Amino acid sequence: MSATVLIAGAGTSGLALALSLLRNGLSVRIVEKQLHFHPGERGAGLQSRTLELYKFLGILPDILERSVSGITLRNIQYLSAPDNGKPPRIVRAPLDSKNTPARPLTETHFLGQNRHEQLLRELILAEYGVRVELGTELQSFEQHPDHVVARLVKIVDSNPVEETVSVNWLVGADGARSVVRKQLGLSFLGETPDTEAVTGDIHVIGETLNQDQGDGLLVWIRPDDTPAGFMRPCLVPGKNLFQFIILGNKDLDLVKISSSREEMIKAFYEITGRRDIEFGELVWMGLWKPNIRMVDSFGNGRVFVVGDAAHVHSPTGGQGMNSGVQDSFNLAWKLALVEKGSAPESLLKSYSDERTPVIASMLNMTTELFRKELAPKPGQRKDFVRGPELLQLGINYRGSLLVLDEKYTDKDELVDPYRSGDDGTVRAGDRAPDAPSLTHLSPNESANTISLFDVFTTVRHTVLIFPGTAGEGFVTEVVEALREYPSNLLKSILVLPRSSSSSTSTSSFAQSALTLIDTEGYGYVNYMVAADTPTVFIVRPDGYIGALVTSGRQGVRSYFSSIFL
Ligand SMILES: Cc1cc2nc3c(=O)[nH]c(=O)nc-3n(C[C@H](O)[C@H](O)[C@H](O)COP(=O)(O)OP(=O)(O)OC[C@H]3O[C@@H](n4cnc5c(N)ncnc54)[C@H](O)[C@@H]3O)c2cc1C
Ligand SMILES: *[C@@H]1O[C@H](CO)[C@@H](O)[C@H](O)[C@H]1NC(C)=O
Ligand SMILES: *[C@@H]1O[C@H](CO)[C@@H](O)[C@H](O)[C@H]1NC(C)=O
Repeated sequence: MSATVLIAGAGTSGLALALSLLRNGLSVRIVEKQLHFHPGERGAGLQSRTLELYKFLGILPDILERSVSGITLRNIQYLSAPDNGKPPRIVRAPLDSKNTPARPLTETHFLGQNRHEQLLRELILAEYGVRVELGTELQSFEQHPDHVVARLVKIVDSNPVEETVSVNWLVGADGARSVVRKQLGLSFLGETPDTEAVTGDIHVIGETLNQDQGDGLLVWIRPDDTPAGFMRPCLVPGKNLFQFIILGNKDLDLVKISSSREEMIKAFYEITGRRDIEFGELVWMGLWKPNIRMVDSFGNGRVFVVGDAAHVHSPTGGQGMNSGVQDSFNLAWKLALVEKGSAPESLLKSYSDERTPVIASMLNMTTELFRKELAPKPGQRKDFVRGPELLQLGINYRGSLLVLDEKYTDKDELVDPYRSGDDGTVRAGDRAPDAPSLTHLSPNESANTISLFDVFTTVRHTVLIFPGTAGEGFVTEVVEALREYPSNLLKSILVLPRSSSSSTSTSSFAQSALTLIDTEGYGYVNYMVAADTPTVFIVRPDGYIGALVTSGRQGVRSYFSSIFL
């Protein structure tokens, strides 16, 4: 079995990477050291940005079909642990955010990691015939100038069998204890707080806790106002399943609690006083020690790390799994272009450069939340208060050397890597906004309106040409410049202002490619293009604005000179 890319680890990060690379035409092998897939819900919250990226990957309908929207964290009950004496309080967390024409998917959805991973496995098997190789562990690797030799050990009929495989690229999606990270010698700096927890998923029998009757997130508070435990309904259809966390303190022996279902239930009753709750099957549980760490570089040469292999943190804020998936989206298109010989190897350096500030900012936020919500000093606990940045729509690469901005040239005005879009500008490096209600110019095409998010795809750059009231000269010049690049790696779209009618625009480009009329005006508004300033936005395959060009041919060439060979 030969493949171009070897992915070690079949968690969400590795599977999202596999699907993204396969979509881009690369061949992939994905190995998983465990003999069985992880059965746990773990990071179940799919943030808004992840949903958008899955739309560009073409799998959003599958995700929405299996997930539920973010109601579970909206209804939070703060309950007294025994001897606390304070009355229970219900806090209704406000809606995360409202959908707008620029942000059509602002609601967090929940899909347990086990089911999320199962969906990704089904897709890569059904569409590409790629099966996760269970019981196959990456043990070591050697880098050469043009390939990587990896040593795998596979369990066959209970016996270890060694295999040496040569690939062009190796990606470690091998979790917090990553072998790839260690062997690359990447530093993994940060801290290990002394909080520990037991977490897992368990069924509840009867009506004492019922996910279908609006029981949202339950939090038990100790007399000293620190949290003792959590229960989150998983909302798996037909199952009354809950994810639990029992937080340690000096009186609890977490190793003992995590040793058996009986010990866990005993501890739960003592901590919550809720002996009325009857438990069914325990799906899984594990001891969890928060580490707050990240790598100094996301790879070296032909070997990279994504997900928990590159960063570990507290689950507060639900950013972890999402960040791993987003690492994979950033890496996949670059690796695909380089492997196909379309881009210089230097493009890959931007993966680490772009993800480093984003992940540093994520660690900062999740650590702040960890200290307020999960592990507060007595008297300093805060209720769950979540800022809109946790939807990850403000993540940006404004500071990246790869992006080109001809409108906003002052690089000192960089925002936090998690908070673009709130400063009244749309810049290169930002998430490309959506714009709905676009109609086809050519009456032959579908009469239905479409949105830009229907057009964006993870396998191509999308070049949005907003000519405004400029004459055809601008469009012709840009279109000519674009002809210099491989046509299968670019999709060009002419977005005409709403005042245009089909009779006014008969350029050769308008006849030969996708031309859309901005019927409701959302395109020009959401991209902040003034009618008298013809502008080109080059949207990368990961949905970020690679270039904001006002000069025409020159800007297009300048941006693509760092992308294409
Ligand atoms: C108990 C627990 C609760 C969590 N709760 C939340 C939460 O509520 N919200 C949230 O956002 N995140 C949560 N997380 C974190 C979230 O689960 C991780 O961020 C996410 O799983 C990272 O995905 P990954 O694919 O990068 O790594 P992992 O899910 O760790 O997957 C790595 C995979 O690589 C495999 N592997 C390891 N070494 C090798 C090797 N040498 N060769 C082959 N395979 C290998 C492992 O077996 C594993 O399957 C939780 C994590 C845990 C453990
Ligand atoms: C997060 O960043 C702010 C601002 O730079 C800083 O004051 C704070 O200490 C950081 N928090 C953590 C947990 O690193
Ligand atoms: C549109 O329809 C006309 C007439 O049926 C046809 O000649 C033309 O090729 C069609 N154009 C496209 C882009 O399909």
